[in-house]
Amino acid sequence: MEPTAPSLDRQSSGRKKIILDCDPGHDDAVALLLAHGNPDIDLLAVTTVVGNQTLEKVTRNALAVGTIAGITGVPFAAGCGRPLVRSIETAPDIHGDSGMDGPELPPSDIDLDPRHAVDLIIDTVMAHEPGTVTLVPTAGLTNIALAARKEPRIVERVKEVVLMGGGYHVGNWSAVAEFNIIIDPEAAHIVFNEKWPVVMVGLDLTHQALATPDVVQKIAAIGTRPTKFVTELMDFFAHTYKDAQGFDHPPVHDPCAVAYVIDPSIVTTRKVPVDIELQGTLTLGMTVADFRAPAPADCHTSVAVDLDHEKFWNLVTDALERIGDPLTGDARTQYTADLVRDASDSLTAGGVK
Ligand code: BDR
Ligand code: CA
Repeated sequence: MEPTAPSLDRQSSGRKKIILDCDPGHDDAVALLLAHGNPDIDLLAVTTVVGNQTLEKVTRNALAVGTIAGITGVPFAAGCGRPLVRSIETAPDIHGDSGMDGPELPPSDIDLDPRHAVDLIIDTVMAHEPGTVTLVPTAGLTNIALAARKEPRIVERVKEVVLMGGGYHVGNWSAVAEFNIIIDPEAAHIVFNEKWPVVMVGLDLTHQALATPDVVQKIAAIGTRPTKFVTELMDFFAHTYKDAQGFDHPPVHDPCAVAYVIDPSIVTTRKVPVDIELQGTLTLGMTVADFRAPAPADCHTSVAVDLDHEKFWNLVTDALERIGDPLTGDARTQYTADLVRDASDSLTAGGVK
């Protein structure tokens, strides 16, 4: 019998409903592609928040990724353009001036939802059965904190918050704090202290999700526009992670949170109380995890500890295979023209006429 190619079969019931709150962002882009391409995920909404770059830039990037992946029927909404209390801090040394430097981006064919992201999050959670919607923030927690404050009923309605952020033994924006937490520590404080289940997929875990050359080659070999896009993202990300943080291969943080929702067996977790440091002069934004004793019965936070690297990347490549090459219309014409121009530029630069 012929092997059947994976496809985007949306029929199966019991898919996991998620809202992805992101700041694309190279790794956010991969998280969005994984969420869209995996058949067990029901992507209810994509919301954006200032983080890796300004709100305007990350929103434009999210729409471009949605266009490349052929996402239709999913609302995209822009949220908060600055943190709750602090000034804006972005990450151009990791993600470039656009927030997603490297690949050429197509013009987007997706219209932005007119609602503020906070309202879209609230509307979506309230419109679904209690205990069915998982929030997956892969950016600063400003939108999520404001949503919890604006409509407190979402706290008991949400199934869980599976967030990329923090680290119980490691920081990347300071010695002890991670970017998504330190850019809006007050928001993180709200999110970690509400009584919904929180799974912290932090640096301890995501530093195991390295885009090694064999992983990138496997993705490139799929040979579609979305995979070309991902390999170009990874190429840029590899250089900045080497220059700014000394990594031999870049850690692809954000899809780890989506992978955990899809298949929790890919990520081992440990229940432990976690709180956010707001006062420390050297430790602002630290996710303080108290491992001293067995977690109390009412502990609602857990941290991700170990990643199954092979299963994780298999999930990502499988999602990319299912997405295929969906770009259509003007976006396809424009994007293809850009790619042809780039290829010819690089041949000329290499001395080939
Ligand atoms: C996190 O910070 C951002 O730069 C990445 O997109 C990821 O969400 C890693 O610290
Ligand atoms: Ca991110």
